[in-house]
Amino acid sequence: MLSQFTTTLSLLALASALPSTLSPKKSPAIPLVFDGRVPKAATGATFDAGLLPYNAKYDLGANLTWSDVLLFPKVQTSLFDNSSTKAVEVTIDDRAIFTPSPTNVQAGFRRNELLPQPANATYATTGIKTLHFSLQPDSHRRLNYSHEYQLVWLESQDYSADQFSLNVGTIFGTKEAHPKRLQLRGTSHASPQQTLWSAPFEEGVWHNLALVLDFNKNALKVYYSRECEKLEAVTGFIPNDLSNLGQYHFGILKKPTGQNLTDITRQGYQEKGVHEGIVYGGILEEDSKGGSLSIAPGKSVKY
Ligand SMILES: *[C@@H]1O[C@H](CO)[C@@H](O)[C@H](O)[C@H]1NC(C)=O
Ligand SMILES: *[C@@H]1O[C@H](CO)[C@@H](O)[C@H](O)[C@H]1NC(C)=O
Ligand SMILES: *[C@@H]1O[C@H](CO)[C@@H](O)[C@H](O)[C@H]1NC(C)=O
Ligand SMILES: *[C@@H]1O[C@H](CO)[C@@H](O)[C@H](O)[C@H]1NC(C)=O
Ligand SMILES: *[C@@H]1O[C@H](CO)[C@@H](O)[C@H](O)[C@H]1NC(C)=O
Repeated sequence: MLSQFTTTLSLLALASALPSTLSPKKSPAIPLVFDGRVPKAATGATFDAGLLPYNAKYDLGANLTWSDVLLFPKVQTSLFDNSSTKAVEVTIDDRAIFTPSPTNVQAGFRRNELLPQPANATYATTGIKTLHFSLQPDSHRRLNYSHEYQLVWLESQDYSADQFSLNVGTIFGTKEAHPKRLQLRGTSHASPQQTLWSAPFEEGVWHNLALVLDFNKNALKVYYSRECEKLEAVTGFIPNDLSNLGQYHFGILKKPTGQNLTDITRQGYQEKGVHEGIVYGGILEEDSKGGSLSIAPGKSVKY
């Protein structure tokens, strides 16, 4: 009896050690287009040295390095991170003035953003892809919700537009009764941008998003959850112009306030002495041409 019992136990142990591909309950892995999860050992210098799949030099304020800008706060592991990866915080201060050329000092903005590499990646902005990320505010580096912030977006390759943008705060030129909300903004084949989906942006909580981006049909679908809950669809497919390839941004672009501005990249009001940050986790992109996306590690659904 005893030996039978131990045999059953060791069979169970063997079964759980088998590769997941042999286990009928697990969904097949969805191939990744890029994996932007940050290894536990990474520091700002790892980003500066270009050792991670992010641009080593852009988009940063003039004369800044990733070592100046990135922090690695001890927060809970995000939905798609694991014991060998960690969260990364992108911060801005008064120095975060992007200066792409000596005659183009973008003093209207404060901005530092991680750009997944390689840039101009047609493979990341064609077909059907699912962009995953988690984010949360930092209660020690609060944003000023009187301003508009872009936190995650796709910018077309000619820099003429953002195909979509996850924002928080007061959209420039509007009045916002509840500015502490995430707003996914897109074109919906209309200009200017419209809000496609929205949720409160609470402190101390991971907000997980997955955007199924159908570049063939120019449509997107939003999945969302909090903390380590599995993702759930919060929209259907929404028509949205995704054409013109481009570059993903993960970080802070803080717009100015002010009236009658003709060029908000260089004009408008930015208060002095800011120390603001947003924490990111689990940045990755799946190739969803097979019809599925992951809603938790090892769990997928048809979109
Ligand atoms: C960056 O450094 C250069 C050279 O020291 C300086 O002229 C410029 O003003 C700095 N830019 C900013 C935005 O601080
Ligand atoms: C954690 O995620 C990393 C990055 O994708 C992956 O390479 C690694 O295998 C994962 N580790 C575990 C223990 O699942
Ligand atoms: C990006 O890739 C497209 C398509 O291959 C190409 O036409 C374009 O010139 C590239 N743009 C840049 C800025 O490299
Ligand atoms: C927040 O932004 C508004 C609008 O620019 C500004 O008037 C206010 O002083 C800022 N608040 C803080 C605490 O800096
Ligand atoms: C902006 O323009 C409007 C209309 O021309 C004008 O009434 C208003 O005073 C202007 N505001 C500022 C701050 O210049």
